[in-house]
Amino acid sequence: MIASSYLSAEAFMSTDSPRVEVTSSLIAPEVPPNLHQDLPQIRLGVMASGNGSNFEAIAQAIANQQLNARIQVLIYNNPEAKAAVRAEGWGIPAILLNHREFESREALDQAIVKTLHEYDVEWVIMAGWMRIVTPTLITAFPNRILNIHPSLLPSFKGAHAVEQALAAGVKITGCTVHYVVTEVDSGAIVMQAAVPVLPGDTSETLHHRIHVQEHQIFPRAIALAAAQQSALQNHSNERS
Ligand code: GRF
Repeated sequence: MIASSYLSAEAFMSTDSPRVEVTSSLIAPEVPPNLHQDLPQIRLGVMASGNGSNFEAIAQAIANQQLNARIQVLIYNNPEAKAAVRAEGWGIPAILLNHREFESREALDQAIVKTLHEYDVEWVIMAGWMRIVTPTLITAFPNRILNIHPSLLPSFKGAHAVEQALAAGVKITGCTVHYVVTEVDSGAIVMQAAVPVLPGDTSETLHHRIHVQEHQIFPRAIALAAAQQSALQNHSNERS
């Protein structure tokens, strides 16, 4: 798919969410359409806690050759996570690391890092991972961890971003892909999409409209971040 400023989102409605009318959305920044072909394949480890629709969107983008990547492993922390079922459907290994079985956040993150290394992961993709991560994970993959958040950061950080946007009465909200740093929802922004708040919206209808755009920007943001890092690496190689 060619990136353009305005995209009809109708075609990207998922089947397992309530149907709402979707208009259009602004995605920034634009991604060069040939980014996928220009990049060597990258190896992803995806972390998810729940439904996994973003995991699915990334897997689908790879299958559609919109993202030159391979998902090496899905890590999930909730035994009920539908993301694990989705991974099975794609033939992707799914590893359960149940946070309740670890004595601390650091202990969980150590197990995550070990698993990501075992599966030879280069980039870590937090796609609905509902646990706060520690420097144990962040320092193991410097500038290689991306998260998606359902607001236009820096507005509405935290676990209730959609509800906060509704309560604030904003007319436009959206979603953000950003690098993960120790402070929650605060790393450098890679890509955002704007989503209108419509009269009568509930958190469910608004979150659904945001999800549609998340599925658009996450694969593109991964490609863009990988391209930027690759360009930086080439630049520093040339200088040394
Ligand atoms: C998304 O809205 C994402 O922004 C937030 O968690 C949700 C995950 O949805 N961090 P899904 O599990 O990918 O469907």
